[in-house]
Amino acid sequence: MKHLLKMEDLSSDEIEDIIDLADQLKKDKKKGKRNKELKGKTLGMIFQKSSTRTRVSFEAGMYQLGGEALFLSAHDTQLGRGEPIEDTARVLSRYLDGIMIRTFAQSDVEKMAKWGSIPVINGLTDYAHPCQVLADLQTIREYKGGWEGLKLTFVGDGNNMANSLIVGGIKMGMKVSIACPPGYEPDSGIMKWADKTGRFQCTSDVQEAADQADVLYTDVWASMGEENEALQRNVDFSGYQINKETVEAAASTVMVMHCLPAHRGMEIGADIMEQHSKEIFDQAENRLHAQKAVLVLLLGETCSEA
Ligand code: CP
Ligand code: NVA
Repeated sequence: MKHLLKMEDLSSDEIEDIIDLADQLKKDKKKGKRNKELKGKTLGMIFQKSSTRTRVSFEAGMYQLGGEALFLSAHDTQLGRGEPIEDTARVLSRYLDGIMIRTFAQSDVEKMAKWGSIPVINGLTDYAHPCQVLADLQTIREYKGGWEGLKLTFVGDGNNMANSLIVGGIKMGMKVSIACPPGYEPDSGIMKWADKTGRFQCTSDVQEAADQADVLYTDVWASMGEENEALQRNVDFSGYQINKETVEAAASTVMVMHCLPAHRGMEIGADIMEQHSKEIFDQAENRLHAQKAVLVLLLGETCSEA
């Protein structure tokens, strides 16, 4: 693994290795062990969209591994004034040991990796959110003991979260079912790939998708950058909610997940959010551990303790 750009680039073994290391780093942290794998390393974090979890978990994660992180708002760098990614990548590669970027187009992340000479991590694009899905897979294994044969149902918009969950879930042996309104389906290339595995379904019927699900997952109706579509989306997504009925259609042992931020009363009922807050906030916590694993694997030279 040279970069983390999208789930498609990772093999099942690589995903499992990242999550095994994430579990170990989580145990180390709980025991109060100080890790120093990234001593002297600097991560640049470019944000062209807002963030709470991604920014804070990357920054804290670098610090906990003995390194440092620089927050680079697109508004305050020359990127925001039109400096090309090709140039930014070549300049930053001379200062930093790794770049995390949150932006709109997946092609910008791919371009950063192509033109730079240091590892690039996708911190969310309109197409993918691999860091979130690694933490999600870690959380699912914690709660369910594994992934093989489980049914993961995603209710909502077929964009970054759905795309990455389909790929990550299927690669780890799960069946993935998506419920979205017509016109909001996941990426067509990903659906074509998923269809061939025989473990994928996309429907507009929420109850059908949720039937006997082991994991129910949802995300906002209007993502970052889609704020001006929010009114229309509120109409189009009405009913695409994880609520009492959805949970009742699922397996009795279902876990409910949300990448956050959540909008109670829209994609998730307030009662369901509270009843399943343990797994949802464990999921948020795992962003830290999963990303620390990615950082060690991409930026670290050895895993020895200094
Ligand atoms: N889930 C997630 O990526 O959250 P932030 O937008 O707060 O980083
Ligand atoms: N789909 C959401 C995910 C936020 C973590 C967005 O892109 O805004």
